[in-house]
Amino acid sequence: MIYKQGEIWCVETRNTGYYIAPRGPLAEQLHYGRKIRPELQPLQQKISVCFGTDVIYDKAVDPSLSLLHLGLELSPTEKGDFRQGALALRSENGDPVFDFRYLEGEILSQPPICTDLPQAHGAKECLVLRFSSPQGMRAELYYTPYEECDTIVRHMRLINETHSCVTLHRAMSFQLDLPRQDLTLTTLTGAWAREFCPQTTALRRGITCFGSTCGTSSHFCNPFFLLSDPQACEKDGEVYGFNLIYSGSHRGSVELDSYGMTRVMSGIQPDGFAWTLEHGEFFDTPQAVLSFSDQGRNGMRQNMHRFVRAHIVPDQWRERERPILVNNWEATYFDFNQKKLVSLAKKASELGVELFVLDDGWFGRRTDDTRGLGDFDVNLQKLPNGLSGLAEYLGKRNLNFGLWVEPEMVCMDSALYEQHPDWIVASPSCSPSFSRNQLVLDLCRREVQDYLIEQLSQILSSAPIRYVKWDMNRHHSDRYSASLLEQGRFSHAWILGLYRVLKSVTQSHSDVLFEGCASGGNRFDLGILCYMPQIWLSDDTDAWERCKMQTWASLGYPQSVMGCHVTAVPNHQTLRSSPLESRFDVAAFGLLGYEMDLTQVTPVQEKAIREQIAFYKEHRTLFQQGQLLCLMAPTPEKGGAWIVVSEDKQQAAVLEMNGLLTPNSAQPPLRLQGLDPDICYQVCVRAQGLELSSFRSLLNHVLPVRVKGDGLLVHLADGLYQMPCEQICYTAQGDLLMHAGIRRPQMFSGTGYNEGVRPMPDFSARIWLLTALNSEE
Ligand code: GLA
Repeated sequence: MIYKQGEIWCVETRNTGYYIAPRGPLAEQLHYGRKIRPELQPLQQKISVCFGTDVIYDKAVDPSLSLLHLGLELSPTEKGDFRQGALALRSENGDPVFDFRYLEGEILSQPPICTDLPQAHGAKECLVLRFSSPQGMRAELYYTPYEECDTIVRHMRLINETHSCVTLHRAMSFQLDLPRQDLTLTTLTGAWAREFCPQTTALRRGITCFGSTCGTSSHFCNPFFLLSDPQACEKDGEVYGFNLIYSGSHRGSVELDSYGMTRVMSGIQPDGFAWTLEHGEFFDTPQAVLSFSDQGRNGMRQNMHRFVRAHIVPDQWRERERPILVNNWEATYFDFNQKKLVSLAKKASELGVELFVLDDGWFGRRTDDTRGLGDFDVNLQKLPNGLSGLAEYLGKRNLNFGLWVEPEMVCMDSALYEQHPDWIVASPSCSPSFSRNQLVLDLCRREVQDYLIEQLSQILSSAPIRYVKWDMNRHHSDRYSASLLEQGRFSHAWILGLYRVLKSVTQSHSDVLFEGCASGGNRFDLGILCYMPQIWLSDDTDAWERCKMQTWASLGYPQSVMGCHVTAVPNHQTLRSSPLESRFDVAAFGLLGYEMDLTQVTPVQEKAIREQIAFYKEHRTLFQQGQLLCLMAPTPEKGGAWIVVSEDKQQAAVLEMNGLLTPNSAQPPLRLQGLDPDICYQVCVRAQGLELSSFRSLLNHVLPVRVKGDGLLVHLADGLYQMPCEQICYTAQGDLLMHAGIRRPQMFSGTGYNEGVRPMPDFSARIWLLTALNSEE
């Protein structure tokens, strides 16, 4: 809800409020946090004298007012606010002074449509605050509340009504001044195969900057970040979450000033950015997402998950079930032909898989990663019957067909490069640097965008393709485009070019399920999610690594957007071997797929996979659409735990994962969250087994005959039999489960084993399923 109370502009959601009031020609930030009944007098910053070196903003307005002491929605530049502000700009004559003065506010029914950028949808109303500088430069700040998600979306529009050119050097999406300095900062950092590692730090006086410079939102630092009360935990405490609806290089910053304020900003990466506006032109910053909760990190999860589901992912996918897929990448890499694919597909369909995804290597000269990118003609040596032939076979097996593409890139060894060597991103002064043997196509150029739109449309019409994995496998270097007069535009213009392609292709094929990917999670952001309702989280599918990543990624993103696959062991990225059932247990709390050679599994593994798929199908709505909460953030000492609860609280599933096992250790109760205290639940551990080979010579303690632990007999038996896991099933009230918790069984520790003991090696998992006793399911 947006309203004006006296002088105060109030932007409120169900539990939060953002309050702003004009102070002379400035817009003062009064409060952002828990919703309050705002009053100007108590909320205004008290300033009645000026101190020592203060720069007085405007004597005529207030002889004691220095910008440094105020929380400001927009800082006039070069007027004495020595904190970094949202804007840095220069007129044609080099003048950096822009005294932005507040003119008026207005409540609109919608934020303006920025045709080039992805935007949140479903807004009901929007506040705009208008500012103007004496030269005629105008700034408009937009505030759009999303009531039920306790989220406010902000962005800025800059309009050049001066009589000369104005160049933007920094144009952040928002600045927010909070009158406290005790918050800790959490960013989600990483690299390839190790996305979403949290970094939490207490803040010190000065500016802390983070973000990306590599052309994507990046695995180095996701645009989502968190500021929390130092005491905040999963369940309690005040937390602020921030994100950007943007996929390019970005920057977030937090500045602790000398007067007790914390300034938060986020937006397009200003390093190297320069965007000149001619008279009459305007510039829209990407939208930024702000959210507050006093219910700890899980409160933030609830806000962000609701927001992404309802206002970011394309509407038609909002509640649509996502298929269980098999992907041939880790099963075959580039080494496949029709026969191999057909036998993988056959097995997958027998096991209950619904979608077959053909990954990299199906086109042009692509026999390895040194060649072929850029071309879209089917490699008939590998697929003599083309894509439609394969799709036809899959159709007979009740499998939908999905295809991998990497449209933004080109290899020198490709027909595209031979025809258009000038379409690559490269400086005229030196030859470009390679990454994974590929170069970046210059998406600043309209003809390159048009080529991609055309090629993708052709491919999508050439066969019944129901799903596309849209990959992008390198960072940007050598940034220069012959199509641009101002190279400071490059990164943003390139992303706008990508958005034009994405918009055109996804809108004209709105029934195709698109999954974003960038060497895993190198472009896992809200911009991409506006076009593609899901993204491959990471190339690393090791169960423990995924447990950590899924937990931390879930701070900003719901599990309904995360591609999660069960892969072979030893894991191709970590060489770690965790049990097949545990790999499933973790992947089930996302969009399930299998990415392993299903034709090579043993009968016992086959049975397990068939049961996993049936289990997931039975509870798919819960796993994909339920509210995910973190019960215990994963550490190697204690392991980790989550719960996902259905909207009506009739069903829940808990993931419990081991870290490094300590023998004969205490098993503290696991307290659940998010249940209905008054519902009586049936609580059962999902039946699963453990490979005999985990026990090897220990089998001699339970078998009547003697076997050799690493002998042929154990090897053969391993494919046929499993050790059952502990069997637990009882009923308990929601309040008991939340306040007393689940008492966990003893772990296997060498002495004694029966059906009450848990054989759980390091980094293995269990799912507990909770079903309301009166539930219809
Ligand atoms: C990237 C993706 C993988 C796979 C390969 C194919 O690394 O993240 O899933 O598609 O490309 O080359």
